[in-house]
Amino acid sequence: MLDLKAFEKQAIPTMYEEAKNYDLKKIIQKQKAKLGDKLVLLAHHYQKDDIVEWADEVGDSLELAKKVSNHKQAEVIVFCGVHFMAETADILTAQKQKVLLPDLSAGCSMADMANANQLKIAWSKLKSLFNDTVLPITYINSTAEVKAFIGRYGGVTVTSGNAEEIVSWAFTQSKRILFLPDKHLGCNTAYHLGIPLNQMATWHPATKDLSYEGDLQDVRVILWEGFCSVHQQFTPLQVKRMRKLFPDIKVIVHPECRKDVVDLADDFGSTAKLIKLTHKAKPGDRLAIGTDNNLVGRLQKEMKEKGVFVHFLNPMACACLTMNRIDLPHLAWILDELAAGRVQNQITVFDETTKWAKLTLDKMLELTK
Ligand code: 13P
Ligand code: SF4
Repeated sequence: MLDLKAFEKQAIPTMYEEAKNYDLKKIIQKQKAKLGDKLVLLAHHYQKDDIVEWADEVGDSLELAKKVSNHKQAEVIVFCGVHFMAETADILTAQKQKVLLPDLSAGCSMADMANANQLKIAWSKLKSLFNDTVLPITYINSTAEVKAFIGRYGGVTVTSGNAEEIVSWAFTQSKRILFLPDKHLGCNTAYHLGIPLNQMATWHPATKDLSYEGDLQDVRVILWEGFCSVHQQFTPLQVKRMRKLFPDIKVIVHPECRKDVVDLADDFGSTAKLIKLTHKAKPGDRLAIGTDNNLVGRLQKEMKEKGVFVHFLNPMACACLTMNRIDLPHLAWILDELAAGRVQNQITVFDETTKWAKLTLDKMLELTK
């Protein structure tokens, strides 16, 4: 049943929703100046342009996980991104620092595809099949509870920016890995490290079973049946159409895309890598990018001035809906509240969860060059 009370609690005063962008920007500017060093505003690259404009730091998941601990003077971190990112920031910052998410409904559909209960069931089944030969790995796009579960069993967190180096380290520690919640990132990463598809199985959390054809003892990678609803929208046909239209085009995509899309692309990588590849392009070059369209739109504008043509691999694809829930009205409201001494939408991870989840994040940062 729809919980109307919870829904109302989340709603911000209508004056913010009705205000003009010009006035909202004036509020943000004024309150940012008033809060000074006490406040740090972090934004993921998938945020809208008019949010990125206010950020003290912009980055992909790996960059933001690294950058957040550089701001020891900040009392409050306003995180313009999604829920799991704000949780990660809370885990990685000092207890006295507060992390706020301007809109609590900014979740991540992929992170919601794995919860600790489902993981407990999967883990006990995998243990009965493979004994102690599985090392659990979670993508940073997962809840703090999932990270904590992984931490209790000696596992590690990865981002798309370090998945290859960490998965390759994992195979020096263990015969097998469980990779969750993104089956595509897990599959693309393992495949590019030389693990053939016939050594990959899939765990289905809904039906609680493992699908695999062949001898179970050959399995090296267990992929969790989860995906990103934004990156799953890219198809091989879109790549082929682009190449037909522009035979000289370079196609670059995020590894959350399906393997058949990554296989057809010229290169693939994390958000930071896609930006780096785009910035390296020379005047006259043509690129099609398969990732969130807020970012691609920004790159398109930026690179136009340099004479580089940037195309949306799928112009019809939606930008990430939940990332887009962070908007000027929510940002202006949360800063107004903060300046008035009211802390809203704080993301707090319980101490016990923090302890175990932090182990997986610290290990990740230690293993990342
Ligand atoms: P990265 O920031 O690791 O590129 O991940 C993209 C993403 O989907 C964030 O939610
Ligand atoms: Fe989640 Fe995909 Fe949106 Fe990233 S882009 S927050 S993985 S739904």
